[in-house]
This record gives sequence, structure tokens and C-alpha cells, in this order.
Amino acid sequence: MLTTTSMKTHGCGEITKKEVGKEVSIAGWVSAVRDLGGIIFVEVRDKSGLFQLVSDPKKNPEVYDIFQKLRDEYVIKASGIVSIRPEETYNEKLPTGEIEVYPTTIEILSTAQVLPFQLNIDGVNEDLRLKYRYLDLRQDKVLNCLKLRHEIVKTIRNYLNGQNFLEVETPILIKTTPEGARDYLVPSRVQPGKFYALPQSPQIFKQLLMVGGIERYYQIARCFRDEDLRADRQPEFTQVDIEMSFVEQQDIMNMVEGLLREVFKLVDYEIPQKIPAITYKEAMDKYGSDKPDLRFGLELFDIGDIIMESNFEIIKETLKKGGIVRAIKIPGIANYSRKEMDDLTKMAISFGAKALANIMYLEDGSAKSPVLKFLTEDQAEQIKQRGKAKAGDVIFFVADKPKVTYDVMGRFRLYFGNKLNLIDSNAHALLWVVDFPMFEYSEEDNRYVSVHHPFTMPNLEDIDKMETDPEHCRSIAYDIVYNGTELGGGSVRIHSSEIQERVFKALGLTEEETKEKFGFMINAFKYGTPPHAGLALGLDRFVALLAKTNSIRDVIAFPKNSAAKCLMTDSPATATEEQLRELHLRLTTKVN
Ligand code: AMO
Ligand code: AMP
Repeated sequence: MLTTTSMKTHGCGEITKKEVGKEVSIAGWVSAVRDLGGIIFVEVRDKSGLFQLVSDPKKNPEVYDIFQKLRDEYVIKASGIVSIRPEETYNEKLPTGEIEVYPTTIEILSTAQVLPFQLNIDGVNEDLRLKYRYLDLRQDKVLNCLKLRHEIVKTIRNYLNGQNFLEVETPILIKTTPEGARDYLVPSRVQPGKFYALPQSPQIFKQLLMVGGIERYYQIARCFRDEDLRADRQPEFTQVDIEMSFVEQQDIMNMVEGLLREVFKLVDYEIPQKIPAITYKEAMDKYGSDKPDLRFGLELFDIGDIIMESNFEIIKETLKKGGIVRAIKIPGIANYSRKEMDDLTKMAISFGAKALANIMYLEDGSAKSPVLKFLTEDQAEQIKQRGKAKAGDVIFFVADKPKVTYDVMGRFRLYFGNKLNLIDSNAHALLWVVDFPMFEYSEEDNRYVSVHHPFTMPNLEDIDKMETDPEHCRSIAYDIVYNGTELGGGSVRIHSSEIQERVFKALGLTEEETKEKFGFMINAFKYGTPPHAGLALGLDRFVALLAKTNSIRDVIAFPKNSAAKCLMTDSPATATEEQLRELHLRLTTKVN
């Protein structure tokens, strides 16, 4: 379909050789002006692409006069007959590179100042781009990300609509949602001293939609989380939020796989018939991460049993106290210098380790290591065999509390995956991680907290561990992981008030707190609740991954920077005394 309006017959990129000899009107921005002393060439750009206009003073002096006034980013409108360019001037890089128009009319619709940065060149400072995001949006790279995002959302809607889902909007001014981040609060003017929270996700509402009989719900939902920002985290982001009734884990997985199959077709990738699933425990044990990047190997392995037989007393102490030891073999780096090895130790320490042990297997068949003194020859050989190490390889290991060991070794593995170029950037590695633990201990809060959220169903085999051994109670929660990023997560929900109350108790909530926070939900569940389950995909992450860009800021039209600021509008901003008074607020911190 052509982008025709009363001002244009075609988008600049829509004109083809079929239009040769016909009159067209285009409108857009001047993207380049080339004055070849006598003849002026102007490239006009709109959302659909570029088109070349030419003016020759001998053919049309009035039009030429206007051409002389054109500058980059002026907005113009022009009409004329499409003609074939002389062959030697074909531009193969442009779809419209074999045609042009000598306009018979041209009009400047608006002029433009010199832009604060040049478009479509690399290396422009991101803060500057974000300050002038409306100009940044004119760049191909940014526009293409938004176009891809649109295609992905369209595909998702088509797919879910075809599966009998109902798209339902849920409120933004709500009571807190327990997703584990900090809430954004909105003070109420009409209810002094009271606050709404912005939704960290539509979790509670989508479950209540199931109680309401909706059965299949989805929403392209905006979520708000006040957390430390990274390249893949924004304070407001979008989820593809899904919930279904009368389903089990496998039903959600099948539905999501169907959805992913359609979306991945947009980047010409046919996903496998069945996406492999591994347990959380296996993911941690093998990759030190609950979102492992399976595009490369470098699997971790356990050498605890060998160490326990050895004289490595410091590590044995750690293991006796509930710690673990995990090792990794890095091929072909036994020629690293002392400094390079020291730097790796420093890196491991910066990841949280207390120390990093290494055994280098030299070309002459010998092993070199500061820890050989703790091991018999046989024990050193067993470690070598377990890591399938050959001459030239190095085995590293760390012993610590499980969380620290996994985290350090997982990051170490990723570091070498990148450093040794083991990651094929064209590969696609999708997997499910299942059987997440129900709880984890929070040192900060001094109590157990939910790994997913408190409405997640415990694995019925482990349900009695909730009270006796919460750390080893598994939940029916699952994540979908793509190339080392958590694309989405979900769970089967609790639909029994009795189990729900036990979970709240295990989380250390008193009856009053439970009632205060979730009373309405517990109450709702007393009126006939279908078994239900769901999942949410992080749309921004999904688009960024498929667009092969490192930051989700690139796929959001108006993102915030890493300090949660919008540099374009300069928000957050101060409020006037009057606004604060109306909201019944007084600031305790002086702001400028
Ligand atoms: P969860 O908290 O795992 O689950 O979030 C789902 C997905 O949302 C994305 N995501 C983010 N993306 C950008 N910026 C952020 N700050 C951010 N936080 C999360 C991730 C993540 O996998 N209500 C549950 C889902 C459910 O149980 O159905 C939930 O929100 O890609
Ligand atoms: P020493 O030099 O005698 O102190 O030997 C200690 C060796 O053990 C060093 O090479 C350390 O890197 C290693 N080491 C000590 N604690 C740990 C640990 N928790 N994890 C891995 N290696 C360790």
C-alpha cells in the first residue's frame, strides 16, 4: 500500500521503475545536497526511504532558484515526472538508485537549523542522541529498530488473537505488585497521605481476570520498576503478558513456543520443534547461571570429591561449611604470562571470589600450579581427566558459598566465551530453565523471599519443605532464555487459599500483613478459582536481541538513561510548592 496523502502520491522509497514517465509528488526531509556547479542533486528522505531530485537551471530556472536555497533537514514537497538516470550515475545502494525526478514544482515547507549531530554516522555520544531523540529517530538504525518492534508486536497480536486470547488492559494506578523491585509511587491528592503504586507487572490483575472467567488473556503491558539500571533494564518497559486457565506448565510452554516460532520467522529462523528444557540446578551446575548462553561450551565441573581427599585444607573447610567448588577448563591459554594470570585472579575477585586457583598444563606434559603442593600426583591427574584437559590448557577453580561460586564461574565462563571468540553471533540458542527454587534467603531482609513471586505454585513433591527446608523447595516456575538473556518468565499459580497462606507464612508475612497487602486477592480466590498459569516476555529485550543491538534503549522510542532520566524532557523534574501542598507532601531533602 502506498503512503499517499493530499501532499504526496508516494513515499520516497516507494517509487519504482514502473513509475517512469508518470508524475509523482513526494515530501520529506533534505538528506543531502550536492551542487555540481550547474546541476544540483538533492536526496529526499521520508520513513519509506530516499529519492533523488535533480535541478538544471537551463531546464527550469525557477525550480533551480529554490534548489539553491535547500539545506540539510529542510522539509520540502516536490512533483515531477519520474525518469531513468543515466546508467553511469546508478546508485546500487539505493532501491530507488536507477531513477530520479526533475521537479516541475518544489516548495520549502519548513527550514531547519544545523543539527547538533550528523545523522547516520557511528560514534555520536548517546547522551547527545537522547537529548535530541526526535532527531535520533531520523537515523536508519533507530527507525529500523522501531519498524522491527512494530512487526514483532503485530506478529504477537496476530498469533495470540488466533489462539482465542482476549487482549485486556489493566490499571496503571494500583496497589503494590510483589515482583521484587522497588515501586514507583504516585501520591493521591484526594486521599491525603495515600499512594498508588505503578505496576511492576499486571500479575495480580491477570490472575483476577482468570477468576473473572477470561480464560486466555494477553496484554502488551507497560511495567514500572525502580531498580538499578543496566543495558537490558529500563525503569519502564513493556511485557507481552500472558495468562491462561485450565492449564499446566507444558500448555504454557507449547503456547509460548508457538508464539516464538512466528516471531523468529521475522528474522528467518525456524526454531526447533521442541525447545530444550534444563532444570535450574543443572543450569547452575553446568553454566553457573540461570540464563546460560548455550552458543558455546566451556561447561563447569565439580571437583569437590577430589579436593576432599587432598590436603587442600582451606577449600576443604569451605566445603565442610556448605560451600562448593566448581572448575572450568579454558583451552590453549597455558602460555599466558604471570601478569595475564594475575589479571584473571583480579577479575575473579572483582566478581566476588576470594581467590582463583589454576593448574596450567604445559606443552612438555608437566603441570604448573601454586596448588599442586596440596594435591597428590594422582589427584592432579584426576582433575586433569575430569576437565579433559590437554597440554596447553588451563583449569581454573573457585571454592565458596554456592551463590558466589556459581556467579563467579558463570561470569568467568562468559568472559572466555567472548575472549576466545567462541560465540557465533548468528547462532540462536533457545532453552527453557525449569524447576526454579521457590525461595531464596535475602541477607538484606533477613528472611526468605520469593524467587519468582509469592503466587507461584510450589512443586507438590516439595510442598512440606516450605516450612522445614525452604531452600530446597522447588517451584513450578520457568524461564525462557535466548542467547544468555532471560527473555521471559512465568509460573503455575497457586489457586488454593490454603497453599497461598502457607506461602505467605513461609515468606515471614504475618496474618495482618497478608490481609493488608493481598486480602482482596485471597478473598477473590474464595469464589471459585480455575487452575491457571502464565508467563511474561520482556518485549524490549526480545526486540533488542533480534535487532542485534546491545541496549534496550535502542528499541524504545523515548528511553531513559542509566540514571533513569529522560534527557530530552529533563524528567524527573521538581514540583512546585503548590503541587506539593496539594499532594500533602513536604520535602525533607533540599533540591536545586
Ligand atoms: P518477570 O519479573 O520475570 O516476571 O518479568 C518478565 C520479563 O520482563 C523483562 N523485564 C525487564 N525488561 C526490561 N527492563 C526491566 N527492568 C525488566 N524487568 C523484567 C524480562 C523478564 O523475563 N509477572 C511475572 C510474569 C509471570 O509470572 O507471568 C513477571 O513480571 O525479560
Ligand atoms: P597459598 O599460596 O599457599 O596461600 O595457596 C593458596 C592457593 O589456593 C592460592 O593459589 C589460591 O588461589 C588458592 N585458593 C585459596 N582459597 C581458594 C578458594 N576459595 N577458591 C579457589 N582457590 C583458592
